[in-house]
Amino acid sequence: MKTLHKIVVLSLACSVYLFAGHAPQSYPTGELGKLVKLGEELAVKTDTHPLTKDFVDNKLNCASCHIKGEDGKPGTADGLSSWLDTAVSFPAWSKREKAVQTLEDRSNNCFMRSMNGKRLVNGSEASMAIAAYITWLSDGKPMHLNDKGPWGPTNKKLWPAGIKHFKPIQKKATHENYVAGKKVYDNKCSACHSANGEGMGTFPPLWGKNDKGEWLSYNTGAGMSKLDKGAAWVKAKMPLYQEGTLSDQEAADVMLYVNAQERASFDLQDRLLPEQKAGAYHSNVLEEKHSVRSNFKALGLDIDKIRGDKLIK
Ligand code: HEC
Ligand code: HEC
Repeated sequence: MKTLHKIVVLSLACSVYLFAGHAPQSYPTGELGKLVKLGEELAVKTDTHPLTKDFVDNKLNCASCHIKGEDGKPGTADGLSSWLDTAVSFPAWSKREKAVQTLEDRSNNCFMRSMNGKRLVNGSEASMAIAAYITWLSDGKPMHLNDKGPWGPTNKKLWPAGIKHFKPIQKKATHENYVAGKKVYDNKCSACHSANGEGMGTFPPLWGKNDKGEWLSYNTGAGMSKLDKGAAWVKAKMPLYQEGTLSDQEAADVMLYVNAQERASFDLQDRLLPEQKAGAYHSNVLEEKHSVRSNFKALGLDIDKIRGDKLIK
């Protein structure tokens, strides 16, 4: 009963509390307006909407990370991972793909990584709708092309700074930090995301599978699965309603713990349709693999030593 009460209170708080930031005052008219509204809907119902559900293999939606602002729209929260000025920088250079990518390419990267699914076909209704919605959020803002990374001006500042800040902290991690991370998780995260990371109601899952054997959260190719990026995001955005209250060490430790749990591996080749392998996806890199183990190794860490057991591939 006590837990149920807590969930009700939290859900209520969730519906009234929103981050600062908002979309333009009005939608475009006509067919364009319809497409923008469809994109907005897809960004909050990504895992259930008929146009996108077959391209998603977890229980997240875009707004799980591109958080709603005070207008209640996906991606309008300001700060890290905001979409409010993303479109002014596309097409943009992407180092990972060694190619210039369009906004559709960039969004579809999140489909196959953060959403653990497959890329939408560029130019399909759903892919265009999401790009139209994200572009509308930048309406009226000056263009600002980015030849360094696939980010708008806000994220161009915040992501590289976050990575630079957290990488040296994460590199020093030991089993003690894993234990400390579990403690932070149990005290400050599990009330919403549940003790075993599977989420609860509108609170999204962080790792693992459900009893049908389906993966619940982002895979090991996602930005969130990288220890430094994950810590930067959580420091800025979590715990919901109390964001900014974690110390750097707490944010680092809790994402060390979260990202040491089981999640789907990423193999780029398995995520591409034949036509995407043949060039319909703007990338010059077609081989890329990540596992929980390799994500830790990327920072010189041994997952077995960090966890103190050998449960992870
Ligand atoms: C699990 C969290 C997560 C989910 C869910 C997610 N993303 Fe992302 N997204 C990220 C992170 C992290 C980055 C930045 C990573 C980087 O570029 O290093 C990002 C970057 C982006 C960008 C580049 C914007 C910018 O200015 O940085 C776009 C566009 C985007 N995502 C679209 C989407 C779309 C569309 C969906 C839903 C289909 C989605 N994302 C779902 C985590 C997520
Ligand atoms: C009060 C409830 C609440 C608490 C406490 C909370 N979260 Fe969240 N978390 C959310 C919600 C809700 C979202 C989805 C974004 C939204 O709807 O605003 C989210 C999204 C996330 C995401 C990205 C989406 C996903 O499922 O992978 C991560 C990672 C995350 N939280 C980690 C944490 C960590 C780590 C803590 C503890 C330090 C924490 N959260 C505490 C409610 C909470």
